Amino acid sequence: MRQALRLGVNVDHVATIRNARGGELPDPVRAAHLAIAAGADGITAHLREDRRHIRDTDMARLAAQLTRPLNFEMAATEEMVTLACRLRPHAACLVPEKREERTTEGGLDVVGQAQALEAPIARLAAAGCRVSLFIEPDAAPIRMAARLGAPVIELHTGTWCHAVAAGDGDEAHRQFARLAEGARLAIAEGLEVHAGHGLDFDTARDLARVTEFAEFNIGHFLIGEAVFVGLEAAIATMRRAMDEGRAAG
Ligand code: PXP
Repeated sequence: MRQALRLGVNVDHVATIRNARGGELPDPVRAAHLAIAAGADGITAHLREDRRHIRDTDMARLAAQLTRPLNFEMAATEEMVTLACRLRPHAACLVPEKREERTTEGGLDVVGQAQALEAPIARLAAAGCRVSLFIEPDAAPIRMAARLGAPVIELHTGTWCHAVAAGDGDEAHRQFARLAEGARLAIAEGLEVHAGHGLDFDTARDLARVTEFAEFNIGHFLIGEAVFVGLEAAIATMRRAMDEGRAAG
């Protein structure tokens, strides 16, 4: 039997819309409950240093209320590690973070930052969080993630999705191969392998054919699509696209 492919829904941009006006609406926690009812296997939220979308209270409510696993996306800072160790979400995904970036640009430099990552990974694991490292699909960071003892990696799909959106077929082909090879190497290194960033219905369907992937984390496209068709319908269509891809893999 083929490995199941889970869908994690990232609710950050429900909070982005809320914060455009201040106040409490729309509520990302309500979106998380709806996403689970619509078939999401888990929820991801990124508490950024500048709190531009998800707030501390959102993360606390998600951790307390969700009936499916919460993936707490975060920079490996003292503040975030302490918070995650207190909330004890199912998973903690370590990402690079720069204040001036619009979204996470590129994977974590696990090779250059190996020593600095050891303590955060150990503290999160000791708190019971399944640690995931968001990295580029290249051999050096994948091998280093395994050496650091993280059980999970998430491969950055942004470069591939960008090439697809730009209609650059050759580059898209190269980047797809890079992701597929990275996923195979990750399995050989004993890691569970996830993917995310910039995925839409078509790219999720295509990447689902790579059966090494166990989970996709998808946010911006789904929340945008929900404006037109509703969150439930957007998630149902994404689930179908992923299932079609996995069946063809
Ligand atoms: N995975 C990680 C580690 C991310 O940083 C993001 C963006 O916050 C996503 C997945 C989701 O990307 P997108 O919002 O483009 O679907």
